[in-house]
Amino acid sequence: MTAVPFGRGVRIAGTGRAVPAEELTNKDLEKIVDTSDEWIQQRTGIKARRRANDSETVFSLGRDALLKALAHSGINASDLDMIIVASVSGEMICPSTAARISEAVGADEAAVFDLAAACSGFLYGMNLADTMIRCGRAKNIAVIGVEVLTRLVDWSDRSVSIIFGDGAGAAIFTADPDPSKGCIHQTMHGDGRLWRTLYHPKLDRDVPAGDEANPIRLGHLRMHGREIYKFAVTRFQEAIREALDATGMKVDDVQQYICHQSNIRIIESAIEKLQLPADRVYINIDRYGNTSAASIPICLDELLEAKTIGPGKPIILVAFGAGVTWASCVWNM
Ligand code: UT7
Repeated sequence: MTAVPFGRGVRIAGTGRAVPAEELTNKDLEKIVDTSDEWIQQRTGIKARRRANDSETVFSLGRDALLKALAHSGINASDLDMIIVASVSGEMICPSTAARISEAVGADEAAVFDLAAACSGFLYGMNLADTMIRCGRAKNIAVIGVEVLTRLVDWSDRSVSIIFGDGAGAAIFTADPDPSKGCIHQTMHGDGRLWRTLYHPKLDRDVPAGDEANPIRLGHLRMHGREIYKFAVTRFQEAIREALDATGMKVDDVQQYICHQSNIRIIESAIEKLQLPADRVYINIDRYGNTSAASIPICLDELLEAKTIGPGKPIILVAFGAGVTWASCVWNM
């Protein structure tokens, strides 16, 4: 799916992030599961991740990230037309986390829904927000990426428990009279044939034929990491190449690459294969681990806070995740 710029422009009015206070280092994990700091750092690039306590939830982290984004944006919660919460770890399926957050922040008139596209969720939401605003159907849309995946992992499963972390990031998108601002290219992809590579079975009937022997307990994430890794390396590079080609840019024409923080080796492989300027590829997986839908908006918020990104050359955002899903966005600040 490719969108050419049409209608009015869109800008990011404000961003915010909220992460749990507890930092769980690789050394801490060595005490919980059969692993080592050295293995985790070498194979994933992760040194630590945040873990939610009992009172920190998808709802509370998402709300706090949104409140910060609203404060930075200067936009009133009551002027939000829509709140999209990208998450696969919400406490309740009904109502949506977005509904509860809208009440908490006073966005009484906003349309509210959750979006389950795993690690691609925030980018799916950002692409939808841009399109809705650009065509005049909405003026202000909040997109929140938030996960508490540490509650879904089996801590004895070392292939899953070491990579995920908790957190939230939010962005407020708003209409701008300059049509060149906002998304100038976007893709949203899926391949449902690969859903079995990462899923969350609650009952026996959820477990697909052939995976019964997988010893991980029901109620916890099951991940075939190698298979996702292979898919991700290929799709990640394709998505960046496609974004560059579609917009007629060379790798140096991009001010910043914001990649889903899944595994540093997947990002490094793209840097090497596509010859990306490494100093313009943001990395924070060492501090947060893989926060799924929260990973891109946390990166975005840190980069804006540090004033590393701003008006000028476009940025490219790219993500992939369970489903499987993958998405990209080329954005003019
Ligand atoms: O965000 C989107 C969703 N998820 C992903 O993107 C994850 C993508 N996949 C990955 O990042 C990697 O596949 C993992 C980090 C999950 C695993 O790394 P890997 O290099 O693919 O390891 P592996 O599963 O192929 O295992 C290699 C070896 C095995 O030992 P043997 O059989 O070679 O003796 C594993 O038992 O490493 C062992 N191993 C570990 N050792 C210490 C696997 N996990 C660990 C561990 N600590 N945590």
